[in-house]
Amino acid sequence: MSFDDAILALSNNALKFVKDDYIIGLGSGRAATVLVKSLAKLIKLKNYNIKGIPTSLQIKLVAEKEGILLVEADQVDHIDVVFDGADQIDSQKFVIKGGGGALLRENILFSLAKKVVVIADKTKFVKNFTKTVPVEVHPLARILVTNSIKKLGGKVKLRSLDRDYTFFTENGNIILDCDFGTIKNPKVLTQKIKQIAGVVESGIFLRKPDIIYRAKTNGKFDVL
Ligand code: A5P
Repeated sequence: MSFDDAILALSNNALKFVKDDYIIGLGSGRAATVLVKSLAKLIKLKNYNIKGIPTSLQIKLVAEKEGILLVEADQVDHIDVVFDGADQIDSQKFVIKGGGGALLRENILFSLAKKVVVIADKTKFVKNFTKTVPVEVHPLARILVTNSIKKLGGKVKLRSLDRDYTFFTENGNIILDCDFGTIKNPKVLTQKIKQIAGVVESGIFLRKPDIIYRAKTNGKFDVL
């Protein structure tokens, strides 16, 4: 069974949190894509009056194609439920986000949401974070933030595309992928990162998910 099949198997369960008239945050990435397609089917089936808020152009295009009515985050004062994936989830249920570069909008939606639902396959779950932390940075603060992250013990790599073209986020910023080895205290680390001038967002979010779905290879899943 493929990753998408496993996510599809649990998306019907996760969609029980959706009610008529809800405002739904649409995360980015593979898991969010599978869920958004299932959400569109539910909306059509139940004739729900749902508004979606996309976290990236990637998921916006999926939602548009599926016929989901979309609004922006600055048109609402709350979101009922956000559905999103994650790059890594630690034993304290902190998440690393931003593999696709959508961390700023994802964190805004997490912070607006009454309920945050994260969906990930079992390979993403660790005791302590080991993945690099994406840090969104204003381009003019590249050197400042690089040196400050090094002082925090991190190794810094500017995210780039093929042939070394720099990756820019949808907000016109750069991403520094920061390797801190094993991260034992993600809360303190992300607070320190966010204090550096020029940092727009850190990939370790202070808002933890309310519900986490862990997809297994056999199509079964756990709810944490
Ligand atoms: C986007 O910036 C990321 O935060 C994604 O949500 C994260 O990378 C998970 O994506 P997948 O579901 O594709 O693994």
